[in-house]
Parts: sequence; structure tokens; C-alpha cells
Amino acid sequence: MPMLQLFLTILLSAQLALALPLNDHVDPVQHSQATSCFPALDFKMPAAVPNNTAGWWCDASTEYAFVGFSYEVTACQSRDQLHRDFNDIRHHFNSRYVRLYGVCDREGFYDDIVDAAWANTLGVHALIWFGFNLDDVWEGRRDVLLGALHANPRAKFVTRVLQFGSEPLYDGVLPHDQLAEQVILAKANLSSLGIPVTVSELAYGYQERGGAQDVLDAIDSINIHMLPFFAQDASTATNAWPLVQRDLQWFIDHGDGKKMYFDENGWPSVTSPSVQPNSPNAVSNVANEKNYYTLLDQHCQDLKNVVGGGIGWFAHIYSDNMEPGYGIYDSSGRLKFPFAPRTHC
Ligand SMILES: *[C@@H]1O[C@H](CO)[C@@H](O)[C@H](O)[C@H]1NC(C)=O
Ligand SMILES: *[C@@H]1O[C@H](CO)[C@@H](O)[C@H](O)[C@H]1NC(C)=O
Repeated sequence: MPMLQLFLTILLSAQLALALPLNDHVDPVQHSQATSCFPALDFKMPAAVPNNTAGWWCDASTEYAFVGFSYEVTACQSRDQLHRDFNDIRHHFNSRYVRLYGVCDREGFYDDIVDAAWANTLGVHALIWFGFNLDDVWEGRRDVLLGALHANPRAKFVTRVLQFGSEPLYDGVLPHDQLAEQVILAKANLSSLGIPVTVSELAYGYQERGGAQDVLDAIDSINIHMLPFFAQDASTATNAWPLVQRDLQWFIDHGDGKKMYFDENGWPSVTSPSVQPNSPNAVSNVANEKNYYTLLDQHCQDLKNVVGGGIGWFAHIYSDNMEPGYGIYDSSGRLKFPFAPRTHC
């Protein structure tokens, strides 16, 4: 189980085209502020915090293709570091979102996240982190985060969804009926803010719990861990499309048409004690890490056509310092390969 847990954290979307800027992805036509929406690539943040979120968020049907990075916060990055990284995530890679991974228990940390996200026009998939010890420290983290979402007046303008994660079903942190109840309670808590709630989970996590339909019914969007390297029939990333389709089809069949994201999504460049394939033919190297994101780009239209407004995918993960082998940056801060994924098609 620890091995799987480790790989669970993985995802990244990269593409390779060339290391050229993605400016061709940005509509050159100037939209007026009134017609754009947060966090579209052409959106200009208002000078003042709006009175309410009416008309604020982009429609889910625009949130397909590459949407951003998984970003681990266990290092408890300083406010300045968050600003630097979020600036790079937005402006270097044309991201619209960061999906938080891991946890920092420093007081006021989520306020720093909100501040860096607001400053860089990035939405956030926030996270209640269970960790891997099967204890109940997550309950305190839940209460702190719910409190911060209420207390910070900008939080509801950058927090797209609150995730329970990572992989609580797979890890067996809670029986599925209790997890569904937690989702329902969090939705009620956040209803006045309009922040939806989800669970960050593998298809297999649901499947091994009898489908956990109660959880699928409770969540507002389906935040999928798509990690085909660990499939029993994995080989190369270039051959992974049927594996992606298989898990995706399961969610299409059981997800009642809800919006779906690949929120932990990628292919490792190296194995490690905690990242071991379940197929003797699975290949891990930088070329395959890169090719996986190329594969998603090649299937941009297929992913756009998926029920619920298309698949928005995150690249897991921003840096090898966060998840060895899955980073777009290596541990020295160098890009491992050119990464310029499509943001629309
Ligand atoms: C917010 O509400 C105040 C008071 O009703 C109003 O004066 C102001 O114009 C509103 N601001 C925006 C951006 O709608
Ligand atoms: C939401 O949860 C927090 C943390 O438990 C609590 O302090 C707050 O009162 C709750 N708010 C609502 C509206 O339920």
C-alpha cells in the first residue's frame, strides 16, 4: 500500500511541442473585462474584490485541456516563494489553476495561497490532506481550512473546489459512506460561499470499495487520478491511450455527467522504492514522461468532447523536489523537457 500511495501523488501534464511560448493559445482579441471570466488566460483581475461571485467563474465547458499543475505544499513555501512559483505557473505555462497536494500546517498558510493566487490570476483546487498514517489529524486540518475559506474575503474568488484527498478510498482512510457524509457536511458548510467539494481519487479506489456510488453522488466534480504507468498492462506512454480511456469510461458510466478533471495525472521519469510499476513492460524515463503529455495533447478533441464540459487536466507535478521523477522541473530547477501543452482545441 505505501507504494501505491506514493505514486498516487503523481500527475503532470506536459507537452512537448517546442519550447516556444504558447502565445498562439491566447486569443489575441482583447475581451472586455465584462465578457471574460476568472481564471481565463485573458482575464484582468479587478482592482477591488467584487461584491459577489455572480458571473465570476468561467463556465466548466471552457475548462478542458491543460489547466495547470499539481503543486505540493509540504515544504511550507514562504509567501514570496508562492508568489514566484505561481507567477511562473501562470505566465510561463499558461496555467489557469494550481491543484494543491500535501499539507502545510503553518498558521495562515491558506491566506498566503489565496494572496499568491489572486496576484497571479490563478484558481485553486484546495485540499484537505489525509496523509498516509490513517490517523485523524485531517479533522483539524479540515476545520482550519473551512475556517480560512470563510474568513478570507478573497478565498471564494480563487477557490474553485475543495478536495478531500489524496486517495482516501484507495488508502482506506474512511469507509465510503463516512467519506460521502464528510463531503455532504463540507458542502453545507461552504454553501454560502458557493465553493464546491470533491474527492481526489483513482478509479481503482472507487472500484475496490464496491464503486462507492454514494461518494460519486455526493461530490460536485470528479477529480480523477490518472496514473496509467501503474496499470498491469502498462508499457510506454505512447501506448497509454486505451488505459486512459478505460478509467475515464468507468467515470463516464458512473459519474452522472459531472464535470471531470484529471487532477493527479502524469508518468514518471524514474522509478523508486515507492514508484514501482505493476507491469514488467512499463517504461519510465524522461521521454515517456514527456510523451504522456503529448498523448493528451493529441487527444485534445477527444478529451474536450467528454460529458460534463470536457476533461481539464493538471500536470503532476511542478517539480521533482515535490515528487521525484514526476516533476516538469528537475531538482535543480531546470525544465526536463519543453513543456507547452495545449489550453484549448
Ligand atoms: C458593491 O456594492 C456596493 C454597495 O451596494 C456598490 O456601491 C458597488 O458599486 C458594488 N460594486 C460592484 C463592483 O458591483
Ligand atoms: C464551517 O466549519 C468551520 C470549521 O469547523 C466552523 O468554524 C464554521 O462555523 C462552519 N461554518 C458553517 C457555516 O457551517
